[in-house]
Formats: sequence, C-alpha cells, structure tokens
Amino acid sequence: MDFQRFSSVLLAIFIIMIIFSSLCLASPSSNVKWRKQNNRSNCDVYQGSWVYDDSYPLYNSSACPFIRKEFDCFEYGRPDHLYLQYRWQPTTCDLPRSDGQNFLQSLQGKKIMFIGDSISLNQFESLLCLLHASVPNANIREEKNTSVPTVIFEDYEVSIMLFHSLLLVDVEQEDIGRVLKLDSLKDGNIWKDMDVLVFNTWLWWYRRGPKQPWDYVEDDGTILKDMDRMVAFRKALTTWAKWVDSEVDTNKTRVIFQGISPSHYNGTEWNEPKVMNCSKETQPISGSTYPSGLPLPLYVLEDVLSSIEKPVHLLNITTLSQLRKDAHPSSYNGFRAMDCTHWCIAGVPDTWNELLYTALIN
Ligand SMILES: *[C@@H]1O[C@H](CO)[C@@H](O)[C@H](O)[C@H]1NC(C)=O
Ligand SMILES: *[C@@H]1O[C@H](CO)[C@@H](O)[C@H](O)[C@H]1NC(C)=O
Ligand SMILES: *[C@@H]1O[C@H](CO)[C@@H](O)[C@H](O)[C@H]1NC(C)=O
Ligand SMILES: *[C@@H]1O[C@H](CO)[C@@H](O)[C@H](O)[C@H]1NC(C)=O
Ligand SMILES: *[C@@H]1O[C@H](CO)[C@@H](O)[C@H](O)[C@H]1NC(C)=O
Ligand SMILES: *[C@@H]1O[C@H](CO)[C@@H](O)[C@H](O)[C@H]1NC(C)=O
Ligand SMILES: *[C@@H]1O[C@H](CO)[C@@H](O)[C@H](O)[C@H]1NC(C)=O
Repeated sequence: MDFQRFSSVLLAIFIIMIIFSSLCLASPSSNVKWRKQNNRSNCDVYQGSWVYDDSYPLYNSSACPFIRKEFDCFEYGRPDHLYLQYRWQPTTCDLPRSDGQNFLQSLQGKKIMFIGDSISLNQFESLLCLLHASVPNANIREEKNTSVPTVIFEDYEVSIMLFHSLLLVDVEQEDIGRVLKLDSLKDGNIWKDMDVLVFNTWLWWYRRGPKQPWDYVEDDGTILKDMDRMVAFRKALTTWAKWVDSEVDTNKTRVIFQGISPSHYNGTEWNEPKVMNCSKETQPISGSTYPSGLPLPLYVLEDVLSSIEKPVHLLNITTLSQLRKDAHPSSYNGFRAMDCTHWCIAGVPDTWNELLYTALIN
C-alpha cells in the first residue's frame, strides 16, 4: 500500500470516526431534533420538556433597550446563567426556530396587542427584545407617554402594543368606591380594531387588603362587598367570552388567551416542602409533569374557552412555566424584593413568544 493510499484510508477512517462520534456524543437536544418528523399539525406543542441548549438565550439581554428593572435579572447581578440555556422541546415535534425577521414579515402591517396585567408586560418586553435582536438596525418608533405603550417597527409597519388591564372587565369609580363590574367590558371597543389580541388575567383576582384593586363587586345589578374569587373570575371570563362571540370579527382578528402563569412560593408543589420561594432554584424540573398538577384557575379558563363559538387559541403555557421554578427574578431585580411571580428577560417569556409565533403562522 503506497503512502498516498494509506493516508487517504487514514483520512477516511478519521472522517468516519468524526461522523460516528458526533452521532453518538451529540447533546440529547440535537439527537431529538432529527428523530422527529417535523409535523406540527398533529403535535401538541405545549406538551414537552426543557432541554439544555447552549445556542440559547436567543438574544443578549444587555443589548435590549426594552427591559424594565423588574425583569432584568442579568443586569441586577444574577450569578447563575444556566437558566438562560434551556429550550422548550415538544414531545412529538420541533418548534420552528424563532426568527424575529420572519415574525415581522408574516405580520407585516398588523397591530398586535397584549392585554392584561404585569405578566402581559413581561411577554410584551420579551417580544420586543426578540424582534429588536433580529433586526437591530430597523427603524423603531416608540410611543411611550400614552395609556397604550406602543412600539412600531416602521419598516414592517408592525405595531406591538400593551393595554394594561388587571381584570379585563371594568372597575369604575362611584360614590361608594371602586366597583368591579363583572358584566361590563367597555375597553373592548379599543381592542377589537387590532389584528392579534393576546389576553391574560389572574394575578389580581385573589388580592386582598390594600392590594385589592376594587372595593365592591357588581354582579348582575347587585352590589356586593365581596364574593368567591374563583366564581368572580369565571363570571368575568364569561363576560369576555360573550364579547368575543358578539363583537370580534375573527376573520380579521386572531384571539389568543394565555394560560395561567404560575408562581413558585410553595415548594410543596414541587416536592420540596421546606422551600418558600425561588431564591435557591437554578434548574428546571426535569420531565413533562409538575408534581402538584394544573392550577384551578386554568380549569376555569379552559371551561369558559370551550363555551366560545368563535376560534380562540389557548396559549397553554402553564405546565411549561410551572417546570421553570428557576426562571423568576427572585431578588435579582431593581427592587431587590423577592419576586417568584414574574420572569427574567431573557428567559421563559421568550418561549411563550416562540409558541405565539407558532400559533400565528399555523
Ligand atoms: C401531518 O400530519 C397530519 C395528520 O397526521 C397529516 O394529515 C399531514 O399530511 C401531515 N403533514 C406532513 C407535511 O407530513
Ligand atoms: C394544557 O396543557 C396541559 C399540559 O400539557 C394539559 O394537561 C391540558 O389539557 C392542556 N389544555 C388544553 C386545553 O389543551
Ligand atoms: C451584550 O451586549 C452588551 C451591550 O451591548 C455588550 O457590552 C456585550 O459584550 C454583549 N455580550 C455578548 C456576549 O455579546
Ligand atoms: C405625557 O403626557 C402628559 C399628558 O398627556 C403631559 O402632561 C406630560 O408632559 C407628558 N410627558 C412627557 C415626558 O412627554
Ligand atoms: C368570515 O369568513 C367566513 C368564511 O369565509 C364567512 O362565512 C363569514 O361570513 C365571515 N364572517 C364575517 C363576520 O365576515
Ligand atoms: C402548597 O401546595 C400544596 C400542594 O399543592 C397545598 O396543599 C398547600 O395548601 C399549599 N400551601 C400554601 C400555603 O398555599
Ligand atoms: C426565601 O426562602 C428561604 C427558605 O427557603 C428563607 O430562608 C428566606 O428568608 C426567604 N426569603 C424571602 C425574601 O422570603
């Protein structure tokens, strides 16, 4: 065997070894990638698990100008960074790799509005970071000093808007005080002109004392001092559902409701009964199920959504977020207060937005 042949055989062996070892040693995430047929039409993208993927996070949060100090964990010194490197992997398919430019192109000329409490703000800012990172030189116009903060990606004529509403239904100032009106939804007249609506409410329904955003509840013409909060939540959602059926042109407007965003103050839920906040959590729960199961308000929400005749998509982020006890700011925020309710940006809300993108393009 002459030297040339010998060395080309060696080279071939070498190449085969490289291919073979990359097949065997590739991280579980990339293995998973080509096991799946990429067919999302019969896939529940909300059923899956978190896998380590060092190509995450999707953007550099320090370069994003839209993050408020509540959510900017990296800026406020969070020492562990593993929480940034998980990707949501559905069990039976892959998510399309989120690409802000495609997102903007497919929503050209459209208005997207997030409607809800600070969890909506969390998702709104994450989406702005995702889009900004993919088109860093795009012309962006901000309307900050209005009741509806808006960011316009001018080259695509895409408007991303935030409508602050704690309860979706109305709270009105009357002589007796602030009255929560379970049957009234006046803001809907503004919402229905949009192309995509992403709703969320829950956080404020069980607040009591000074944080309760109303003094009285009006239900079907009767004024009450208080009522069962889950019943009130169901009634308000039902008012919202009737509004969708009677007022929203779903040929023009896509309606999305976000599932309940979980907090992590009760370690019993994830089998660590002594834990009372998220301060020591640095890794997600492995697997696809959260030990304590789904929260009660999600069942109420699913029930009400099933009564709507028009198409409404449940952005079913509850379980995947429950698994991320590691992804809250804890004390790494501008207030140094313990926060196991909101989510770090970059982080879990980026996945909500990847799933939102998936829902919109399908
Ligand atoms: C995806 O799966 C559905 C249902 O099984 C099937 O009807 C459809 O043809 C599949 N699409 C592709 C691209 O394989
Ligand atoms: C939402 O996701 C959870 C977890 O995958 C599942 O148990 C539940 O049935 C889903 N709800 C709907 C309406 O698909
Ligand atoms: C992230 O962005 C900041 C601010 O633009 C920059 O200083 C830093 O080097 C960037 N980090 C990485 C890893 O690119
Ligand atoms: C914001 O708007 C209010 C009333 O519309 C006005 O009084 C205030 O000066 C504005 N602030 C800025 C910074 O433009
Ligand atoms: C929406 O589109 C469907 C099918 O094209 C049509 O039958 C229906 O009348 C439309 N509804 C409205 C409110 O335009
Ligand atoms: C914590 O969660 C467990 C299991 O879901 C529940 O039984 C318990 O009541 C919760 N504790 C508090 C203080 O909410
Ligand atoms: C967080 O929980 C730990 C115990 O798990 C406790 O020692 C600590 O005081 C808690 N911190 C806050 C701010 O609640």
